[in-house]
Amino acid sequence: MSINCTNRDALEDFLRANLKESRYRHSMGVEEMAVRLARLHGADEEKAAFAGRYHDIAKNFDTETMDSYVRKYGLPEKLIGNNALAHSKVGAEILEHEFGVADKEILDSVRYHTTARMDMTLLDEVIFVADVVEDNRTYSDLDYYQDLAYRDLDQACLEILEYTIGSLTSKGMEIDKDTLEARDWVVNKIKETENGK
Ligand SMILES: [Fe+2]
Ligand SMILES: [Fe+2]
Repeated sequence: MSINCTNRDALEDFLRANLKESRYRHSMGVEEMAVRLARLHGADEEKAAFAGRYHDIAKNFDTETMDSYVRKYGLPEKLIGNNALAHSKVGAEILEHEFGVADKEILDSVRYHTTARMDMTLLDEVIFVADVVEDNRTYSDLDYYQDLAYRDLDQACLEILEYTIGSLTSKGMEIDKDTLEARDWVVNKIKETENGK
């Protein structure tokens, strides 16, 4: 793989050392699915593989470690104590600053893999969707979402966003502004694509 980073072996060791076995398996699954989606939808396969493999690099940090990285990199205060949201932002900072990954597209796709955002790049969409539909996932509609992801990446993105928003709402949890903006953005993108047909 020719993605630039200062020490690929050290990066790989860091991933292994910091992920639980099941999370490591998930990461390999996201790498594989991201490559599949990249091939089908015309994204860069090497970038998809790299971002997929390392997207959850910070996922299993304990709260103390996560918070220390949030402070170290001057990330928003609202991420303190919120591992679910912080791990994607911290992961991107670690890849950039600890391992010299300079590719903005890769870093952004890691940074926004949990919330999504408006104006998603093709790689953002590939990683966001691959995270949810990789082969190790066990929810009952997996086949449906995989088929959808292979056929129509925007629609898959939209349905995953709708599901996320619905499930957070029903739990009375706050929905990240980026997620709401991503939903509106992809709704418009789908409309524009349909009008252009
Ligand atoms: Fe994640
Ligand atoms: Fe993930």
